Amino acid sequence: MKKRVFLTRTLHDFALSELKKRYKIEIYSGKIPIPQSKLRSKIKDVEGLICFPYDKIDKNTIESAKNLKVISTYSVGFDHIDVECAKERKIRVGYTPEVLTDATADLAFSLLLDLFRRVSEGDRIIRKGGWNIIYGAYDYVGIDLQGKTLGILGLGRIGKVLAKRAKAFDMKIIYHNRKQVSESKEKSLNVKYVSFEKLITQSDVISIHVPHTKETDHLLDMKIFRRMKNTSFVINTSRGKIINEEDLVTAIKKKIIAGAGLDVYEEEPIRGNHPLVKLQNVVLAPHIGSSTKETRSKMAEITIKNLNLGIEGRKPMYSIGY
Ligand code: DGY
Repeated sequence: MKKRVFLTRTLHDFALSELKKRYKIEIYSGKIPIPQSKLRSKIKDVEGLICFPYDKIDKNTIESAKNLKVISTYSVGFDHIDVECAKERKIRVGYTPEVLTDATADLAFSLLLDLFRRVSEGDRIIRKGGWNIIYGAYDYVGIDLQGKTLGILGLGRIGKVLAKRAKAFDMKIIYHNRKQVSESKEKSLNVKYVSFEKLITQSDVISIHVPHTKETDHLLDMKIFRRMKNTSFVINTSRGKIINEEDLVTAIKKKIIAGAGLDVYEEEPIRGNHPLVKLQNVVLAPHIGSSTKETRSKMAEITIKNLNLGIEGRKPMYSIGY
């Protein structure tokens, strides 16, 4: 009998046909995220689960799945999964790092460019028929990137690629990490290691590239925003919960900082009437860090490979925990 696999969202056609050859699959097609009670009832008997970052794969959910062998997430982030609980129950967890590094760094850089040059804001003005109000010599001006300081919080895979992009635009690059990278790496990327305090106070724009953990939860809050320059921006393509969103809205409204470029939110999808949506000096993307044709199909390939290995009782190609 074919093993059963549940997907909380559909995947590419090639991926589905591959899955169908091996498994009996069921795909949730309703509004995201799948309600928790539905998710629990759907995975009760399955051997494999394919999930996405907006799904909550918590302890209760994992424990409701009696035959589950593998959770294969279509993402590099895995803070939506209780990895410890999966490990205790000998359930494999697979994820998709590496393939989305360039795409995510590119998105972070495009948010930076957009904020500095006010592209989305101008788009909104034009669509409202307001071009005539932005024709002055010094109104509606952006900022040069050249010579400005980019602070990279977390110089991992994505942070390093972002540094390469910023170097090409002649930005000064500082970074803060748990561990300083090698001198030769610093030299090739043209980056300088600084303390967290210096990163916060010296950057003209801070881009977040650390994972969401207990330690990074609400790492950026009003206390931090108050120490930043009031001309500086925040970019987040990592996880929404690293920023205290309520504080961010207040900091931007009160001009404590200049604005933000966000791809991730405390709750996703962000609601249409969220206070962030009303702010002009904010660029909002719908969690599309990895969303290019090429990257997304590579992620699907890895998601399936991870799933297959886990169902066979083997370690996924990219594995966390057990
Ligand atoms: C991931 O894969 O975790 C990213 O957030 C997707 O953009």
